Order: sequence, then C-alpha cells, then structure tokens
Amino acid sequence: MCGIVGMLGNRNAVPVLIEGLKRLEYRGYDSAGVAVQHETELELRRAVGRLSELENELTQHPLSSTIGIGHTRWATHGEASVRNCHPHTASEGRLALVHNGIIENYQELKGDLAGKGFPFQSDTDTEVLAAHVADCTAEGDFLEGLRRALAGARGAYAIGLLSLDQPGVLYAARLGSPLIVGKGRDGVFIASDVPAILPQVDEVIYLEDGEVARLSGDGVEIWNLAGEAQELKWVKVEMEDSAVDSGGFETFMLKEVHEQTRVVRGLMDQYVKDGKISFPDLDMSVGHIRTLQRMMIVSCGTAYYAAMYGRLLIEHFTSIAVETDLGSEFRYRSPKIQPGTLVATVSQSGETADTLASVQMAKKAGCPILTICNVFGSSLVRESDHLIYTHAGPEIGVASTKAFTAQLMVFVLLTLHLAEARGELTPESREELLAELQKIPTAIHRVLENKEHIKEIASRHHDGPSSLYLGRRFNYPMALEGALKNKEISYQHAEGYAAGEMKHGPIALINESLPVICICTETEDEVAEKMISNVREVQARAGRIIAIATEGDQRLNDITRDIIFVPRTTECLSPLVNVVALQLIAYYAAQARGTDIDKPRNLAKSVTVE
Ligand code: F6R
Repeated sequence: MCGIVGMLGNRNAVPVLIEGLKRLEYRGYDSAGVAVQHETELELRRAVGRLSELENELTQHPLSSTIGIGHTRWATHGEASVRNCHPHTASEGRLALVHNGIIENYQELKGDLAGKGFPFQSDTDTEVLAAHVADCTAEGDFLEGLRRALAGARGAYAIGLLSLDQPGVLYAARLGSPLIVGKGRDGVFIASDVPAILPQVDEVIYLEDGEVARLSGDGVEIWNLAGEAQELKWVKVEMEDSAVDSGGFETFMLKEVHEQTRVVRGLMDQYVKDGKISFPDLDMSVGHIRTLQRMMIVSCGTAYYAAMYGRLLIEHFTSIAVETDLGSEFRYRSPKIQPGTLVATVSQSGETADTLASVQMAKKAGCPILTICNVFGSSLVRESDHLIYTHAGPEIGVASTKAFTAQLMVFVLLTLHLAEARGELTPESREELLAELQKIPTAIHRVLENKEHIKEIASRHHDGPSSLYLGRRFNYPMALEGALKNKEISYQHAEGYAAGEMKHGPIALINESLPVICICTETEDEVAEKMISNVREVQARAGRIIAIATEGDQRLNDITRDIIFVPRTTECLSPLVNVVALQLIAYYAAQARGTDIDKPRNLAKSVTVE
C-alpha cells in the first residue's frame, strides 16, 4: 500500500528510483511519480496506471539528477489521477513531498493554510502536509520547522522530502508507517522496505516512530521529535536478491506456492532441535506459560484464518481458553480482556493498521503481546513482548501463500510448546505429532506434483459467477482461506462456510452450475462422516462437487469424479497440506480467467490504513 523510495548519490538517481518503485509494485498502487532536485528547481514526472506509464513519460521528458524521491500511490483521498499523484509540491514548487499513511487532521490544516493563501490542486492529505511543512519551514531553522510541522500532523506517515532551500539534502521521517534508510557504494537511500533498495545497499537503519532523518553529502543524521540526536543503528542486510525475483516461475505467487515445502521444513529446522521445540525470541518462561488461562488472537484477512486454526489447535491440546477477533472489529468493540490475558497477533507484514491499533489497545489494558510475524523490525514486532518469526522470506505476490502456511506451522509448534510446558501432552503424543510434522514437507511436495490435475479441474469449474467452499473443524478456516484466495486473484465471488452451517442458508444457492469445493480429508475423527453427509446434501441438489480427499479414501468415488487426492496425515495437521491444493485451485482459476495474479486489482500487500 503506497511505496516510497529516495536516493542521494554519485550517479543519476532516476533509474534507481524506477527500479526501486518496481520492487515496491507488489504493495499495490494505481499511480506513480518521481521528483528530482536541480540547483534552481524541483522537477516532477507523474502518471496514472502501471509504472510503464511513468517510464513512457520519462522517455518523452527525461529527467536526470543525483538526488530524487519516488512514490507509488494507492488512492485513499481522491481518485487515481495525475493531480492526486505524489510527489506533491508547495511554495510554488520549492518543496516536494512523498507520503505513505493518512493525515487525519488534514481538513483542519487545509482550512488554516487556505486562509494563509496556500493554493491546493489535489484532493489529497499529502498536498496539505506539503503545504503545512512549507509553512512551518518558511522561516528559521529548516529542521526545527520540519519537526514542528510533523508534531502538528495527526495520523500516520512515512515521508520523503526535497526542498530548494536545502540543496543536496533528502529528509525522511516516520510515524506509524514503515521507512528505512540505507547506504551503499553509490550513495544513501530511503525506502518503504529492504527489497526496494536491496541491490543498492549493504546496511540499513529501521527508522523508529517519531524519528526524522537528514541524508546529505555528510552522511546520515537522525533526531527524535524532541530534537535529540539519535545513535545510528546500522544493520547488515542479509537478504539475497534471489529472494525477490520470480526465479523462472511465471508469477511470484506460483514461486511462493512452490517455496512452501522449503519454508515448512525450514521452520522445523529453526525451531525443533534434537526433538525439543524452542523459540529464541519468545522470551516466555515456563512459569508464565503455566499460568496462562486466556489468549486472544487478533489479526486480519488471511492471517485471521491462521489465527482461527491456532485457536482450534491450542484449545484441542491445552486448557487455555482462546478467542480470536479481527483487528478492525476488536479495536471498536469493548472487549473484556483481563490484564494478563496473552494477546497474540499474526501478520505477514507487521504493519497492518487495524492489528497494530488492537495491540496498542491491549497494551493499555495491561496485556502482554505475542506477535507471529514475517518481517524483521516491523511495527508489530516493535510493540511486542514476545516474538516468533515465520521466516517465510519476502512475500511479493499480493495474495498470501507461503506466509500463511508458515503461520499455520508456527501455530502447530507453539501449541506443542505450550502443551509440553504445561504438562498437558504426553511424551508419546508429542513424539507422534513431531514425526507426522516431519512428513508434511513431502506431502506438500506431492500436492505440487499433482498441479496439472488441479489445473484441469480448476479451469473446468471456474467459469461461473460464484463458488462455495466447505470444511469442518480444522479445515473450516481453510474453507474460508480457499474462498478468499479465489476471490482475490480470480475475481470470482466465493464464499467459505462451515459445512455444518450450509443447511442454515447457503444450501439455497446450490444448483448444477455452482462449484462446491469440499474439504473431506478427515477419515477417522468425529466429523469425518458428517462431512460426507454434507457433501451428499450438495450432491442431492446437483451441485458441481470438487472434493479434496485423502489418498486411498474410496468414499467419494460414487459422488464426484473431480477429486484431488492429497497424502494422508493426522487430521489436525491436514490444513498444512490441503491449503496448498486450495491455493492451486485459485491460481489456475485466475489463470483461466486472465487476471493479473501477482497484483490483483484494488488490493494492497501491506494495509497500513484503516
Ligand atoms: C490475503 C492477504 C490479506 C492479508 C491481510 C493481513 O491473501 O494477504 O488478507 O492477510 O491484509 O495482512 P498481514 O498479514 O500483513 O497483517
């Protein structure tokens, strides 16, 4: 959701800005722009649509300078148009600003600034912020004025700023939206994330909330909002560039789906040593784990479905009572969380605004925070007392796949860890589950090997306007996730439902043209027969059944010919395998429908606004 990149270096910054913006494309955007500084003017190029439009603009009207800022915009205030596109300028073009986040008091500021004669061309809060900064820096020390301007802006921001009054200087600041500073052979940089400037930098600093950075020929300086100089905490960049290219796959999503075997195995290697589970960043004593009575897991979207699975597992194996809630609901209801309740969040990006606000609320209520996250140094990570990284590597496809499977895997390991510490799991059950877990990467690999069959089924059934996904117990969250994946990338309406609830409403939808994806991998537990009965209810109404079933299970043979067989595993671990089949169904449906799979319309990877 919006991306920032900036450079001050020893060569033309424009190609680096464009390359950086391309690397931020995955976050979602609808327009883009760059600004560069010359001695007497700031020059801008902006375009609506894909970055190729901005590149066309730059071919027709080239730009060159060693200092510049760039932005991809995901519209919040005003439609996607050139006039709303960043960078925004103020003071007759003497100042240019790019911004991620939302300035909540922009109407109020705009009224004051209009009264002072500032003209406005756009509908955006960013143009107001640019004018507000110009107003505050018009006299006196520039940095002092900038800090005053930021202190008067309510909301969230990450900004990059150029001013003709500060030649050869690039300013950056953050509050609630991520921003990093980097340095490398060719200069100093700012960006929304590390992948954006990965080829350029050796070391980065993760700016803290309230910090302002000044990048110049003298290097980097950082202050907090009170004006105190901060120590520069450079971190060596360990990420490989191969982690952010599509590695020969037709899309990032397909690459990431295939990476799941490695991600799941990697998590076992990381967190299970000599048969013992340990999380280096969890920092939670056995004594604390034993006193846990309640847990609340808060997250959004796909990560929420991982939370639902986590709840099922933890309640199945321990005596801890677990609730789940969506970040956007939790923060606006009056949750009765007792101090001491462990509040857990799950997030790929670690920047999701609603999850972050929920955490801040829970902290105020005196709850310790556990975060399960994929991004090192992200906002959620900084807010947390206890941490587990999902180590899925950068996820570029907008639709989450490997990060989700990693979240599921972390929940399995966390559950075993909690149950063991509380003495609620026998050594035999623990051994058995760990042995089953060892087989999961191979099981995922086998599903991937079956992709041509899945493709054939998906492309035959995804022509209609809608589809229904059904599952029970551990696979109910997977039905929700399968439907979400399908909606996101194929744009076919899809609904996930608890199979037992079907008769309470959605059964009315079933006819011969509705594909119904039924997750039937349970063969032994108490819901196994019930799921088959639900499938028969669909069959009785001539629904088009696509079943996911366990290899060797004959029960569906007389019900449908469209069966995707997956390797047998313990019921509670089956979601880790089944979800891969669901991802591939969505993927090939999207491919058949000709959508932009890696960058589905309207979606953003990191949802940093409410
Ligand atoms: C779906 C998807 C989103 C995210 C949601 C939360 O494929 O990616 O639903 O799961 O926006 O994002 P994170 O996990 O970054 O908090």
